[in-house]
Amino acid sequence: MLDGFGRKIDYLRISVTDRCNFRCQYCMSENMTFMPKTELLTLEEITLIAERFIGHGVKKIRLTGGEPLVRRDMSDVIQRLGRKVKSGDLEELTLTTNGTLLNEYASHLAASHVRRINVSMDTLDPADFAEITRGGKVEQVLGGIEAAKQAGIHIKINMVALRGFNQEALLPMAEYCSKNGHDLTVIETMPLGDVGADRKLEHISAEEFIAPLLARYSANPIAHKSSGPARYMAIEPLGLRLGLITPLSQNFCDNCNRLRLTTDGKIFMCLGHNAHVDLRAAVRNEGIEAVDRLLQKALKLKPLRHDFNAQLDGSADILERHMNVTGG
Ligand code: GTP
Ligand code: 5AD
Ligand code: SF4
Repeated sequence: MLDGFGRKIDYLRISVTDRCNFRCQYCMSENMTFMPKTELLTLEEITLIAERFIGHGVKKIRLTGGEPLVRRDMSDVIQRLGRKVKSGDLEELTLTTNGTLLNEYASHLAASHVRRINVSMDTLDPADFAEITRGGKVEQVLGGIEAAKQAGIHIKINMVALRGFNQEALLPMAEYCSKNGHDLTVIETMPLGDVGADRKLEHISAEEFIAPLLARYSANPIAHKSSGPARYMAIEPLGLRLGLITPLSQNFCDNCNRLRLTTDGKIFMCLGHNAHVDLRAAVRNEGIEAVDRLLQKALKLKPLRHDFNAQLDGSADILERHMNVTGG
């Protein structure tokens, strides 16, 4: 699949639920209302649509949310898509999770050909973790990560950079990742949805955020084969692979290879844009073949890049859509 700018699109990110057992301050408002269950794609619909996308050349699928593992009966979807990895139709099935349910799911994930997962964890400090997630327990996440590691799954930690909140958490996090053999990615906050204007949501560039780490340890850039947004470097003395996702400070959209299926069955062509097509009604009325037609339409709608910079400086409106609906 090629979009209107000639970019090859072979990566599908699916938000399987907008619900989550955390309420991270940069992601959701405190009293977030979730979609009525009737609005959601059924698990069968999600699987059928994903399989149809694979038929069109999607090679990588990431399940995300909200928290993908809070949706009941996710094992089935994971197992069925895992079979596509086994057959070679799909190169990778992966997951972005908050880690809380990994104890329960680790062996099922491993048995379903999930080789690596990304776990969101912004600090190791228990009190700060509880504050940013509004009630989360970091010990539970660490336990989940350990279970996944024991099951043979490679871990990447996602750390959202928050000015004045978790800058001092970076060194301990880098050392923890180094000790445990995890990768670490630092992500700049993106303005999305009405999450309330809180000081903890303040933007800081990834470069400024990691400066204390680079002052202490030497780093070398690593060439990166996939066209994901992250730039990677090796923090040599720690043996750590550090990724930076810099939507605001260094745009990476020229290499974008992805599209997103939302909880309620829309294909969004960019995290920071409203361009989308609605699959749910079409699939329900016309059958799964409707995906083929709407996918072609969607590819033409994919914008060249997001508008986050304008949204952050106030010259464009912030999108009403929350991260948990679109899938981070
Ligand atoms: P890989 O598949 O390993 O490259 O993972 P990833 O880093 O793309 O996935 P993950 O779900 O862990 O996303 C990490 C962060 O990157 C999240 O905050 C995402 O919202 C952000 N992100 C991922 N893809 C895009 C994108 O296309 N555009 C923007 N602006 N942000 C993205
Ligand atoms: N900006 C940047 N990253 C975000 N995430 C959630 N909301 C935001 C935001 N506003 C991250 C989560 C998770 C990933 C899917 O997206 O921390 O790691
Ligand atoms: Fe849940 Fe992820 Fe949002 Fe945190 S960032 S509240 S884990 S969806």
